[in-house]
Amino acid sequence: MELKICLIGKGNVGTCFLKLLKERISFIKEMYNCDCKVAAIFEYDGALINKDGIDLEELLAKNTNFRENKFWKKEVKATDLISELDLDLCIETTPTEPKTGEPALTHIIEALSNNIDVISANKAPFFLHYERIKNLADKMNCFVKYEATVASCVPVLSIKRNLIGNRITRIEAILNGTNNYILSRMATEGITFAVALKEAQELGYAEADPSLDVDGFDAAGKLVILANELLNWSKSIEDVKIEGITKITPEALELAKSDGYTIKHLAIAEENDLIVGPRLVKMDSPLNISGILNLIKLQTKYAGSIILMGRGAGGFEAASAILNDLITIVKERNKVNVN
Ligand SMILES: NC(=O)c1ccc[n+]([C@@H]2O[C@H](COP(=O)([O-])OP(=O)(O)OC[C@H]3O[C@@H](n4cnc5c(N)ncnc54)[C@H](OP(=O)(O)O)[C@@H]3O)[C@@H](O)[C@H]2O)c1
Repeated sequence: MELKICLIGKGNVGTCFLKLLKERISFIKEMYNCDCKVAAIFEYDGALINKDGIDLEELLAKNTNFRENKFWKKEVKATDLISELDLDLCIETTPTEPKTGEPALTHIIEALSNNIDVISANKAPFFLHYERIKNLADKMNCFVKYEATVASCVPVLSIKRNLIGNRITRIEAILNGTNNYILSRMATEGITFAVALKEAQELGYAEADPSLDVDGFDAAGKLVILANELLNWSKSIEDVKIEGITKITPEALELAKSDGYTIKHLAIAEENDLIVGPRLVKMDSPLNISGILNLIKLQTKYAGSIILMGRGAGGFEAASAILNDLITIVKERNKVNVN
């Protein structure tokens, strides 16, 4: 089997994915009899296109500028070419635009409409238009996978397959590493929100404009995806009650501490409600993690709670989730071909 791939967005995650693929390409060939070829890499201002497969060694060699590669075509757009390249898989890693989900939404719709499987690291299309994307994928008999969108490398969406004999009834999670870092520092050092935020920005854990994180919107988007996937809900971001962390003071944290609690920014899905906001958490609770980690606690009907924890961000972390999705699709396609 041959898998012709296009990557849209060669930034941090996209480049890490290409590096991981280069490392694992012969494993995928040997293990799953699948020849992966990257036929196109789209950027905002053009694309590298080679239907026979771009040479990843050459592309990823140090000090090479991919815009000087002989296969670089200026000013071509993914939306114009997706249908013409005879692709099997489209990987979406453009920046998240939380109001419209563009340009990723159009890329995903265009790929699925042309019978091309999709993997996305970009979460916005899924917390805005989950139903539309899922229905189209079903109609076209295509796979659409997006493990990297929530908690990056932590396999919290694909765990559903392994809990098929159980039922997830409630989700309680820490889904934003920036906010968790800020609250952890405020709790341990007694510093203000502003000081902890500045520290997070200096360390590269928070954006120059941190509003999507600290106002709770990022965690809300991830919660929507989790609830739709794991609880079979059909929610969108407007359904989430959202509160950020900007009003939390060192005094509030001190008061909580004197009663054996701390304050965490939690994302909760229960009884048809989606809530993101600060909550008291017992000091000895598994939810009391520090730093930039993510944690997802799944309450199940038959086996108590199951907890997943790990790094919720990072180029290679997200890229490893994309590669997992890719191999899952290859395995599923192999089954279809055998039958
Ligand atoms: N970084 C992480 O830890 C992480 C983890 C999980 C998920 N994600 C998600 O993965 C996606 C990529 O993240 P990232 O950190 O790799 O961001 P990034 O470094 O900014 O990469 C995005 C790339 O897409 C390019 N791009 C912008 N508009 C485009 C268009 N219309 N067509 C093609 N390419 C376009 C950008 O080019 P310019 O920079 O030149 O504009 C950039 O090279 C985001 O949606 C993010 O939320 C990231």
